[in-house]
Amino acid sequence: MQTQLTKSIECTNGSTIFLCPNANGVKSLPLSAEEKEFAEARLSGDCRICRIQHLEAETFIAVPKCGTGEPLQKHDLQKTAVNIYSKLTEHSDCAEVAVKSLLGRNLTLAFVESLILSDYHFDRYKSKKDHRIGKILLCCDKIGESDISELNNLCESIACARDWVNEPIMQLNAEKFGDILKAEAEKLGAKATVLSQHQIEALKMGGILGVNRGSKDEARFMILEWAHPKAHNDKPIVLVGKGIMYDTGGLNIKTGNYMNDMKSDMAGAATMAGAFLAAVRNNLPVNLKVLIPATDNRPNGNAYANGDILTMYDGTTVEVVNTDAEGRLILADAIAYANQYNPQVIIDAATLTGAAERAIGKYGIVAMHQDAGKEMQELVSSGEDVYERIAEFPFWEEYGELIKSDVADIKNSGTGVCAGMITAGKFLAHFAKAPFIHLDIAGVAFADKKYEFYGTSATGFGIRLLYNWLKTI
Ligand code: BES
Ligand code: ZN
Ligand code: ZN
Repeated sequence: MQTQLTKSIECTNGSTIFLCPNANGVKSLPLSAEEKEFAEARLSGDCRICRIQHLEAETFIAVPKCGTGEPLQKHDLQKTAVNIYSKLTEHSDCAEVAVKSLLGRNLTLAFVESLILSDYHFDRYKSKKDHRIGKILLCCDKIGESDISELNNLCESIACARDWVNEPIMQLNAEKFGDILKAEAEKLGAKATVLSQHQIEALKMGGILGVNRGSKDEARFMILEWAHPKAHNDKPIVLVGKGIMYDTGGLNIKTGNYMNDMKSDMAGAATMAGAFLAAVRNNLPVNLKVLIPATDNRPNGNAYANGDILTMYDGTTVEVVNTDAEGRLILADAIAYANQYNPQVIIDAATLTGAAERAIGKYGIVAMHQDAGKEMQELVSSGEDVYERIAEFPFWEEYGELIKSDVADIKNSGTGVCAGMITAGKFLAHFAKAPFIHLDIAGVAFADKKYEFYGTSATGFGIRLLYNWLKTI
């Protein structure tokens, strides 16, 4: 069950977090004179968080500050929330916490959002469940019921996406993922179509079929649609997510530890489906479609091999030079399929290249665009706003030279070792006949060490960014 945020008029006598704009704010808190004096003394120094036992309950009084001395940013509140969450759950096993905020609406929402996201745990397969708070009461007159339900819906969608990524391949293959997405979307009144292996064959989606050859499981192609009657965009926005349910590398098998986290290779699909669910749950006035090609990539008897030439959905022929560059093959069919909708923009999210991760690490998304300068700018600023940042990379035409093939139209990996994330993007852009943005989330999708409220394992990184952008459409 996802952690729930509820509006509350009064704080309870349980664990409480007080958020104050400055140490003076402490005067108005419902604490004893001694407690206030103690807190004021602590908070007037460098200390930003003061912890007391009020009526035997863990109580935190926080005066968040901006590191640079500038006005408070949402990110300062995100960090404060992560800090308090770890202190609060370190020793106590409280099952409810009240937040009383004297800060403004946006800062308060950023704080509770981070608390909820920090409270996510993937413990489905543990006999002894992890402790979680589960319930957060918010006492702040600047925040209404609609803000609360919007945030709950967003966080619930992020939790779903993180669950899907955390599920191992044995528990979640392409077929099951299709069933789950269809059920979730239809439950909310959205349209969902899942194309079967036969339908994918009939459509001649050579990229998906090529990668799927080594798998015992069938491939799936999911189409989720949300057309709000008062949608602000005429032409649909099409989100495409890489749904490699597990990436062994295929015949170019991943060695050493490189295969360990590859259940997360469908994080792009989870990100797009998560953003979709959040938009639908919150009834956003948008015309939105999500396309998810899904299969695993394995070196079985009939697996596709280097030298093979695939004929893609749009007729392009592709020479396979590395079976581990499989994501772009399934995405290419989905991007080509997206063209029929005459979209305003096609955006894909994919754990596509180790090169993206090596370039900027876990701190942001690597992005490129083709004829989508406006939307790219909007996504960048949406990312700055929610602190899920995007680094735009060059997309010069010369990079396209690196994927030319001697025997087919293009090949699935670039010549040489340079700019792997850009040549991968060029490969995808080849199939787009509408403005196109590529988001490589390989660095951010899955954390091996705890990182802020993203925790360990699946992070859900990118869903808040996309949702925040969809709200501006
Ligand atoms: N799924 C991987 C990329 C990846 C690496 C995601 C690390 C998350 C963390 C992708 O399919 C892949 O294997 N890419 C290759 C491409 C190469 C063979 C051209 C890579 O990046 O090494
Ligand atoms: Zn791969
Ligand atoms: Zn992959």
